Amino acid sequence: MKGCTANEQLTKLLKEEVDVLFHKPRLVKKKKIRPTQFHRERSLYDWLGFNYLDEFLERYSDLYKGTLVDLGCGEAPYKPYFLQFVDKYVGVDWVESAQYKPDVISDLNRKIDLPDDFADTLISISVLEHLCEPQRFLNECFRILKKGGYMFIQVPWQWTVHSPPHDYFRYTPFALDYMLRKSGFIDIKVEPAGGIFSTIVLKLNYLSLRLIRGPLYVRLLVKYVLVPFWTMGQLFAPLLDKLDKRKINEAPGYFVIARKPF
Ligand SMILES: C[S@@+](CC[C@H](N)C(=O)[O-])C[C@H]1O[C@@H](n2cnc3c(N)ncnc32)[C@H](O)[C@@H]1O
Repeated sequence: MKGCTANEQLTKLLKEEVDVLFHKPRLVKKKKIRPTQFHRERSLYDWLGFNYLDEFLERYSDLYKGTLVDLGCGEAPYKPYFLQFVDKYVGVDWVESAQYKPDVISDLNRKIDLPDDFADTLISISVLEHLCEPQRFLNECFRILKKGGYMFIQVPWQWTVHSPPHDYFRYTPFALDYMLRKSGFIDIKVEPAGGIFSTIVLKLNYLSLRLIRGPLYVRLLVKYVLVPFWTMGQLFAPLLDKLDKRKINEAPGYFVIARKPF
């Protein structure tokens, strides 16, 4: 905050504090590109999970700035979305894919190959569960994040084992809070991505994929029959979730926002 008077600095800090605590999704103007618009895994049977991620990331869009580092970026599906807000996008992963070559190749279980205070904003979507040294990773996140910077995380909770053998943990909201605090983060907020009905619908939809087998015409026919069920379930689940007062306990996943103190 170079060039700011002490008063201006204090006002800015207070505003950021209030921004996190009382964020109102509908006040944020939507940009042309939505966060998961270019995600190759977004499908007819699981778009609900991606919609939750869109809502979460869009709600905090006024906090994205400067250099954004995407830890475990995969094919960097969120890059076009974040470039609407930040000056620079840096993708980190330990493998290159046919679609994307990470800007930094680094094993997130070890020291991340970036200097201290490098990033203004950090995101890590569906990655923490794949790390066998998660606390070390969070310590590293704290190190590479600038003071006052925000980190945004998504983790699955009621989700099948995936990307074997690198699927190590599931985290309760208390574990996420504890581990982030241990690394030095503050203002930690954990929210559910949906509730019990979203969990059931997504599980049933994934289960139904097992029915799609056999010759092509049979697969097409089964898919044709399943699409209305997939769609109805995903449309109604969020409405039913609203009736569940304890949805934080049975969510498909969690979103987390945390800040490095000044
Ligand atoms: C489920 S994918 C998520 C990719 C992307 N964040 C997204 O939301 O589409 C998990 C990503 O974490 C990466 N990953 C897993 N373990 C890692 C490690 N030890 N170091 C670096 N990246 C890792 C994988 O290569 C993969 O790209």
